[in-house]
Amino acid sequence: MGGWEKLKERNKLIASEIKKRDDFVIVNHHDADGLCAGAIIAKALERKGKKFTNKTTKQLYSETIKEIKEMGKNFIFVDFGSGQMDLLEENIKENFFVIDHHQPKQSEYKFHSNPFFFGFDGGNEISGSGMTYLLAKELNEKNKDLSVLAVVGAVGDMQDFKGKLEGINRKILEDAEKTGMIKKENDLRLYGRISRPLTQFISYSSNPVFPGLAADDKASAEFISENGIELRQGDKWRTYSDLNEKEKKKFTSALIMHLIQNGFSEWKAKNLIGETYTLLKENPKSPLRDAKEFATLLNSCGRNGQPEIGLAVCMGDRINAYQNAMELLLEHRRQLREGIEWVHKNGVEEEKAFYFFDSGENIKEEIVGIIAGMLYGSKLIGQNKPIIAFAKQSEDLIKVSARATEDLVEKGLNLGKLLRESCSELGGKAEGGGHKIAAGCRISKEQQKEFKEKLNDKIESQMQN
Ligand code: C5P
Ligand code: C5P
Ligand code: ZN
Repeated sequence: MGGWEKLKERNKLIASEIKKRDDFVIVNHHDADGLCAGAIIAKALERKGKKFTNKTTKQLYSETIKEIKEMGKNFIFVDFGSGQMDLLEENIKENFFVIDHHQPKQSEYKFHSNPFFFGFDGGNEISGSGMTYLLAKELNEKNKDLSVLAVVGAVGDMQDFKGKLEGINRKILEDAEKTGMIKKENDLRLYGRISRPLTQFISYSSNPVFPGLAADDKASAEFISENGIELRQGDKWRTYSDLNEKEKKKFTSALIMHLIQNGFSEWKAKNLIGETYTLLKENPKSPLRDAKEFATLLNSCGRNGQPEIGLAVCMGDRINAYQNAMELLLEHRRQLREGIEWVHKNGVEEEKAFYFFDSGENIKEEIVGIIAGMLYGSKLIGQNKPIIAFAKQSEDLIKVSARATEDLVEKGLNLGKLLRESCSELGGKAEGGGHKIAAGCRISKEQQKEFKEKLNDKIESQMQN
């Protein structure tokens, strides 16, 4: 049997066990992928007439698992759990299911579905919501409409970083296209095609940062006008989605030229164009229309302590929860902007094997990883080392977020393994893991110095192999 069949078998086994039970606590991660995963399994259980509640949490730390186990009878962990199998087995025995895509700890547990066990890479071939979607399909073929949420989740986890979704994600995308709910197009892959006025579309862009135009509305507006594109239509600011085909081409070529003239490689500049995913049933003026913007809206809810709003939007609410989510989106953008400004003002430090900044209380631990990832577009750091971000978690604990580039991963860097090993060597309250390209952990304050030393050693040895 090939990997795909074995994965299907595993999901069948889990689905048949879920059918036998009732009363579930769905435990999902707080980011876009986690919320999509939580909503997919919630919808699937709802359609089966099962009782369930959703519990969203920022991480499955050992004390979180102890709290959660008091909450109900059966537990379905989605978009995390593979790194905590020992703790889960110890605390919840056989009454739990794990559907995840993070690098797993070795485990023989039968109700555990993870792509790495079947030869698929959970870093780019399938997300947590994708894995949950595959299970939902085993519960009922009719759940195919939930594939759209799995596309949003995969994009939220940046699994399209090579220009388009690949691996099992591609199969899921095909399911979504067949439902008529999604359309893929080759287009400009800048954030805010639907929601940002053209000027801010350029000046706020962080991936990439446009030299000479970034954070400069006046220069960005001039750039657009010089290229013969009207900024306004009557008294309304135009967005990229308002442009006609000819204007879109002109605008895109001007941006590519600008990057090349400012020292970007042709390859990097052309990377500005890639696959985009349009949700055809959503209002053309809503951020939900674009998979990337949908995912950001969900992050705005989950990472701001209001996951129930994001879950309700995933479940279909386009009235109250949607309005609330739109407000949280503004707040989220403000926090990201302020975070980036803080890093620009305070700078990034350089160690032998990595860049780092320690934001203390100035950036929330929930979003410090997003900010770290955004720095790769800026002049603050090079592409040659990973970036490690520290933020205060509590009086004695520090949250760590690590991000890398595709090139570094190809050279052998594995951030998830790096943090998991470092934490287990440090012991105490240190816990963490993740993906090769993005990972996180927490450590105690007194461990920070030793942690950095470990990183220097381990990163060098990963990259030598
Ligand atoms: O926990 P989960 O798997 O859902 O989160 C993955 C995280 O990795 C996301 O925050 C995503 O933005 C980040 N990521 C990244 N760069 C990539 C791929 C993923 O920062 N190239
Ligand atoms: O929190 P952050 O966005 O930096 O997380 C990056 C990745 O690392 C996510 O996939 C997250 O699930 C994972 N992570 C983890 N253990 C932690 C913190 C984060 O596995 N303690
Ligand atoms: Zn995920």
